[in-house]
Amino acid sequence: MKQIWRRENLYQFAKAKLSDYLFICVSNREPYIHSYRCNEIKCDTAVGGLTTAIEPVISAIGGIWIAHGSGNADRDMVDSKNKLMVPPGEPFYTLKRIWLSDTEVNDYYYGFSNQALWPLCHAVDIKPIFNEAQWHTYKRVNEIFARNVLEEIKDRRSIVFIQDYHFTLLPRLIKKVSPETIVAQFWHIPWPRQKTFQSCPWREEILIGLLGNDLLGFHTVRHCRNFLTTVNRVIGDSKVNYEKAEITIGESKTEVRPFPISVDFEQISRKAQGLDVKEEIERLKRELNLDDKLIGVSIDRLDYIKGIPRRLMAIGHFFEKYPEYKGKMTFIQVTVPSRMDIPSYRDLGEKISALEERVNLKYAMGKWKPIVTMVGPLPAITIVALMSMANLCIVSSLHDGMNLVAKEFVASRHDNDGVLLLSRFAGAAGELGDALLINPYTVDQLAAAIEKALVMPRVERYKRMRRKRRLVKENNIYKWAADIISSLAELT
Ligand code: G6P
Repeated sequence: MKQIWRRENLYQFAKAKLSDYLFICVSNREPYIHSYRCNEIKCDTAVGGLTTAIEPVISAIGGIWIAHGSGNADRDMVDSKNKLMVPPGEPFYTLKRIWLSDTEVNDYYYGFSNQALWPLCHAVDIKPIFNEAQWHTYKRVNEIFARNVLEEIKDRRSIVFIQDYHFTLLPRLIKKVSPETIVAQFWHIPWPRQKTFQSCPWREEILIGLLGNDLLGFHTVRHCRNFLTTVNRVIGDSKVNYEKAEITIGESKTEVRPFPISVDFEQISRKAQGLDVKEEIERLKRELNLDDKLIGVSIDRLDYIKGIPRRLMAIGHFFEKYPEYKGKMTFIQVTVPSRMDIPSYRDLGEKISALEERVNLKYAMGKWKPIVTMVGPLPAITIVALMSMANLCIVSSLHDGMNLVAKEFVASRHDNDGVLLLSRFAGAAGELGDALLINPYTVDQLAAAIEKALVMPRVERYKRMRRKRRLVKENNIYKWAADIISSLAELT
């Protein structure tokens, strides 16, 4: 058995390796968001594993997190330098909030980040929109963040760890002014094939920006290779060493490495064993009329990359092809609305509702209907309950950097039961080969895979789930951070 990384080991490890440095994390979404609700200020924690992974590191070596202040009560919580200590209740590090105007948010976040780079990198049904004005605002916002990072660095030895596609220009902007600073970035979404990336009118500026990083991380080896090839084709004076996964331009060198992100396995597994989850399962079964039913579940952010319409069509097809399951199997679709200011996301919401209605109208019998929909965000306890009570979980992304729902499902199945149907095009498929790997584009194959999952013998279900659990347990979110710390330490 390999070493299991925990919060405490990560803390010690970061302290031993990097304690001489100031650690600055930069992301668009802030780890804590303050909003007014019923005349009171409430604090929400950003979902996802990033905060879980970064906080032990910041607490070990000291640091600051810089992010866009997006909550409507955010300004009322900061000091004159736009800073506050977090987490609320047990504050130990500084969050510095950056204010952006509505136009900046529209052009930089909804515009260039999410209507150009997001579809460009996922390369599915929705095509990127390249808009010059949005690109200029995106550049300006990167400059705003750069100024704020540099203000914190002054002349201190620092490591800046940047998150994601919102900040492709930031690494170079920092390096230009502060070449001694170690700059790293993690790209949380896929990197496309070089031919796809070539359609971006500002491809060179973006790549030059990213090559300001000393270390650039992706989820998978394939994304790393795509990036190396893209640079090789687009940047004439770059030297790309495929063997070492390194890129040199003049004096600067960027190491490109895979770091598959993960979840806090033990925390989820423990939670799933709690009495409150048991009670929540009973409540859900009672209220949704699921007592003697087989259950399928999917939980997604409402995004066109998740393949939700084809999945719902596959559910319809499943009842057509295997009518013996009518009245016996219920599929629960949880969607969490996101980026609803973007037309393609709104259209998707409408498309999904229409499809659910169509399938339900066609196949419902008495009190039973094939698809039950729930709109998130749901409490963590409900998510864990849904995952724990399901016979199968479908992740049918058309393309996904990693997909943490797949890993959360595995972590919640301490009973070793449940079948995961996982898209071949999700980064998680590279690690979770024991899932039923599916092609999310073929509705009939997906329907057949649902049937296969439902008739899979118990012994096989257990064997597959046990192997996946060991893998996710060993490769948890703390290991993700520890691997990045090791690579950063080599750069010091
Ligand atoms: C997903 C992606 C991340 C991205 C995040 C942004 O989780 O995998 O790469 O940073 O969405 O979500 P937001 O709601 O902030 O646009």
